[in-house]
Amino acid sequence: MLATSHDDNAKLKLIKDVGFDQHFKASTWAEYNRAFFDGLAEKYDATNVMHSFGTKRGIDKASVRRLPIRPGSKILDLCTGSADIAIEIAKLHPTVRIVGLDASPAMLKVAARKAAAYLDRIEFVEGDALRLPYPDGHFDGAIISFGLRNLTNLRAGLLEMKRVVKPGGWVSNIDQGHPKGALFTFAYEIHFRRIAPILGKLVFHRGEFNSFRYLPESNRYFPDQETLAGIMREIGLADVRVFDHWRGAVSQQIATVAPPATSSSAPEPRLQRGV
Ligand SMILES: C[S@@+](CC[C@H](N)C(=O)[O-])C[C@H]1O[C@@H](n2cnc3c(N)ncnc32)[C@H](O)[C@@H]1O
Repeated sequence: MLATSHDDNAKLKLIKDVGFDQHFKASTWAEYNRAFFDGLAEKYDATNVMHSFGTKRGIDKASVRRLPIRPGSKILDLCTGSADIAIEIAKLHPTVRIVGLDASPAMLKVAARKAAAYLDRIEFVEGDALRLPYPDGHFDGAIISFGLRNLTNLRAGLLEMKRVVKPGGWVSNIDQGHPKGALFTFAYEIHFRRIAPILGKLVFHRGEFNSFRYLPESNRYFPDQETLAGIMREIGLADVRVFDHWRGAVSQQIATVAPPATSSSAPEPRLQRGV
């Protein structure tokens, strides 16, 4: 069992840490989280520019370029939010169809507005990442970007992604990682602990939608990139690779969904010498 927990208990603590319980009336983590993103939706893109110093777009592009997407394939963008990743895939792969699934109706409204030019190939679906309304092997690939941290159980989310991707397909995650290098880590911590809260106060007139508080607090429960890669291997994903941006401050993992192991009881064929 891995030391990093991202389970119900951690989420209960996070509800208090970010003050969700003071602002929203909800009984589960999923409900609190939906209320938060519904309220944040119209400011989400602007805050991302500030969180990432304007680099998210470039990171999205590089991450999508890395995906082993084949022409004509069907891709799931889980926790699509305002559809940055879905749109990037649609732009780069003109024959690919994408489902952008999210739990927040307000986020999906923003997504549909932004993706207006691609709605013939991007379908937006309101749903729960932990109970995907698709049969096994429905997609050729599934990506989640800055989404796993929001799920009640990240391992269950990865398992659901693996389930709906066909054998030979791929699963990918993008999120904040743990940065490397003392100087860079110091600057990163200063930004998140000191500067971001000030930015948050300027941007959010209503504290409950303050992503500058949510992101660093949820980071405390979110595993680093190597631990995440380990979880992916543990649930049976193969060929897990880790790609860091900004010295690991943001990280992407890409893995392959291996074909199910055959449980044949027939003995291995024996090689004959000289044949
Ligand atoms: C930080 S945003 C990420 C958006 C986008 N992928 C990006 O890269 O900018 C996280 C999204 O996850 C969604 N979300 C949270 N829990 C979810 C769940 N259980 N099922 C589906 N979506 C969920 C939120 O509504 C929100 O839009």
